[in-house]
Amino acid sequence: MAKDPVRVLVTGAAGQIGYALVPMIARGIMLGPDQPVILHMLDIPPAGEALNGVKMELVDAAFPLLKGVVATTDVVEGCSGVNIAVMVGGFPRKEGMERKDVMTKNVSIYKSQASALENHAAPNCKVLVVANPANTNALILKEYAPSIPAKNITCLTRLDHNRALGQISERLSIQVSDVKNVIIWGNHSSTQYPDVNHATIKTPSGEKPVRELVQDDKWLTSEFIKTVQQRGAAIIKARKLSSALSAASSACDHIRDWVHGTPEGSWVSMGVYSDGSYDVPPGLIYSFPVTCRDGEWSIVQGLSIDEYSRKKLDLTAEELSEEKALAYSCLS
Ligand SMILES: NC(=O)c1ccc[n+]([C@@H]2O[C@H](COP(=O)([O-])OP(=O)(O)OC[C@H]3O[C@@H](n4cnc5c(N)ncnc54)[C@H](O)[C@@H]3O)[C@@H](O)[C@H]2O)c1
Repeated sequence: MAKDPVRVLVTGAAGQIGYALVPMIARGIMLGPDQPVILHMLDIPPAGEALNGVKMELVDAAFPLLKGVVATTDVVEGCSGVNIAVMVGGFPRKEGMERKDVMTKNVSIYKSQASALENHAAPNCKVLVVANPANTNALILKEYAPSIPAKNITCLTRLDHNRALGQISERLSIQVSDVKNVIIWGNHSSTQYPDVNHATIKTPSGEKPVRELVQDDKWLTSEFIKTVQQRGAAIIKARKLSSALSAASSACDHIRDWVHGTPEGSWVSMGVYSDGSYDVPPGLIYSFPVTCRDGEWSIVQGLSIDEYSRKKLDLTAEELSEEKALAYSCLS
């Protein structure tokens, strides 16, 4: 019997990530090739016409899994009955703007969208925040949607995770699918810590640690980390636009693994509400290694953290605490 359609909200759907993301969802890349979907696309009134253009293209693409499209600039209509919400819409930092000004705009967007989701989304709606500052936007959403379980609100660091896999595979000229268990700790910003201490590579003679195969600790602790941290800026420099197809694809990976589970023996990185694991202050949305099963994520426990890593974990936590304080100061 055919499955009931799942309603997926994409905010900022007229933007460039939205344009890459909605066809992926409609093709089953996010939820699977046998899962019908109804797309809810939300944007703001100045983007209303462009949003309708995207809707026309979705109709023209005749996706068999796509059972309906709601294209709207009304936040309540956009959020009504959604099972999954991918929050891509936000206010970008423009030249000459202070960090606080951008934060004020985004805090007010995420505060109002939190209420709309809380009051109108389907029960147990899963939320993924992509728009920057992703961790702090997700935290504001959580604070202003207290009836949505904290476990249901996450932010995207899977793009950084995938970038780390990509860099290791390029360095060793191996398939990216043979690399696993890198970790992105902390903020989706340049203080994030891409950690390969537990990462492995599939070889004909079994799994081997990344460090053993790379045989260049200097590269791993300097250039590799910097490349992953700065990859977003490198894409902007090359494309004159920020990453979109990789962000959209990683958002699909994030939701797919959350809903369908991570493969046995592997983990992924997700920005989730800290419970104090690894001495990360509780009350931050922080990227951890997680496994997923039955639609729930759990933080991987018991990984050893060396002194170098400890400093990096603390540094990115400090930045998140500062962002949190800034966000709260914008609310008052
Ligand atoms: N977490 C990540 O890994 C990651 C990666 C890349 C980009 N991003 C972030 O994702 C966001 C979107 O990037 P983009 O390149 O698609 O930007 P974009 O400017 O092309 O699109 C953003 C869209 O959001 C809309 N929007 C603005 N305010 C809105 C609101 N209140 N409600 C609904 N929609 C609203 C805009 O009209 C626009 O259509 C940015 O914040 C970007 O920094 C995050």
